Amino acid sequence: MTSRRVAELPVDPQFLDRWSPRAFSPQPLTRAEIQTLLEAARWAPSSYNEQPWLFIFAHNAEDLARFRPLLVDQNRVWADQAPVLVLIFARRHFTHNGKPNRHCMFDTGAAWMSLALQARKLGLYTHAMGGFHQDQAYEVLGVPADRFEAVCAVAIGRYGDVQQLPPALAEKEQPGPRKPLAEVACEGAYRGR
Ligand SMILES: Cc1cc2nc3c(=O)[nH]c(=O)nc-3n(C[C@H](O)[C@H](O)[C@H](O)COP(=O)(O)O)c2cc1C
Repeated sequence: MTSRRVAELPVDPQFLDRWSPRAFSPQPLTRAEIQTLLEAARWAPSSYNEQPWLFIFAHNAEDLARFRPLLVDQNRVWADQAPVLVLIFARRHFTHNGKPNRHCMFDTGAAWMSLALQARKLGLYTHAMGGFHQDQAYEVLGVPADRFEAVCAVAIGRYGDVQQLPPALAEKEQPGPRKPLAEVACEGAYRGR
């Protein structure tokens, strides 16, 4: 599935092996698998070691039924199959002094990536979704919006049957490409367009 991806330089295969499928199998994850993913996320670095991330997950039928309507319809089409949904929040202020933490999103992003890479180590896949109803997420999950930013939703599961996807999505079902390295990294000073 990852053969389309060719790195410009030899990097650890785990970085190319992670991608965002839509064909999820509904087969449930074990609690141990879910806890392992969250444990990996917990070890991400963060400004002042604030650990601003908050993961709220659903894996029983009752919780999944509450979480699914939080996703936009374009994501529900495929993500409703996923056996685990996670809503990720970032704590807006530092605990030690109450000041705004302008790195809370950056740090929470690092934690999400740890989760995503750990998932592949377990043979699982993740797909992040910015397409969710933020206001409803605060309300349905009881998260105080003044203290947390609703950052992203994530679907997690085993790979499923691509034929179950609507044809337009089945066609797109492959790992995303990347910009050339020279376009995203430069030495010494900005040399972009
Ligand atoms: C913050 C964020 C928001 C995203 N939102 C969506 C989304 O709402 N729906 C979707 O299908 N994919 C979404 N994606 C997946 C991206 O489209 C995908 O990561 C990108 O195309 C690169 O492909 P890859 O993950 O397969 O490498 C999102 C990814 C991130 C990190």
